[in-house]
Amino acid sequence: MLTSGYRIEPAVPSELSSILNLLNEADLPNEGVKDHLSNFLTLKGNGDSNLEPWGCAGLEIYGDSALLRSMAISPEYQGKGLGTLLTEAIIEDARKKGIGTLFLLTDTAEDFFRRFGFHTVEREIIPGNVKTSVEFTKLCLEAPAMMLGI
Ligand SMILES: CC(C)(COP(=O)(O)OP(=O)(O)OC[C@H]1O[C@@H](n2cnc3c(N)ncnc32)[C@H](O)[C@@H]1OP(=O)(O)O)[C@@H](O)C(=O)NCCC(=O)NCCS
Repeated sequence: MLTSGYRIEPAVPSELSSILNLLNEADLPNEGVKDHLSNFLTLKGNGDSNLEPWGCAGLEIYGDSALLRSMAISPEYQGKGLGTLLTEAIIEDARKKGIGTLFLLTDTAEDFFRRFGFHTVEREIIPGNVKTSVEFTKLCLEAPAMMLGI
């Protein structure tokens, strides 16, 4: 596991294209990222300040709930514990922002998110404002929904 040599920080506008590349590489939707960029985190290696992010994750905030989306680690850095660190960081960020419940949609990483306490739920229980997210209305139509109370 990489325990040092990286940093997790709020995303900045100049990182938008790198984040979209990470999402394309991971085959995840990129719609709406720009609108929610201020609630994204990136994970980068320490060293060269121009280094491309190795990973990203974002929140779409709806009242006191949020959709955790766009969790991606670049394939060459997967399996080193970085996804775990980034998930812990985005959950902590949500907590600091006053979010009470996190939702997510995934058909690729259910067992990964269970490690953090997420459990599968029926979409019906998800608040209407969260369901306005483009992920719910146009994308991930079949993906199981998961929830974590924080
Ligand atoms: C899911 C993802 C973020 C995990 O990142 P990572 O840096 O490889 O994860 P870690 O190294 O912290 O893995 C921690 C553990 O979770 C497991 N794990 C990783 N990805 C998993 C997945 N998709 N499903 C189930 N378990 C997974 C690892 O095997 C590891 O297990 P171990 O502790 O027993 O060795 C990364 O694989 C990824 O970007 N995937 C493509 C995009 C995606 O599916 N995102 C989630 C949907 S939003």
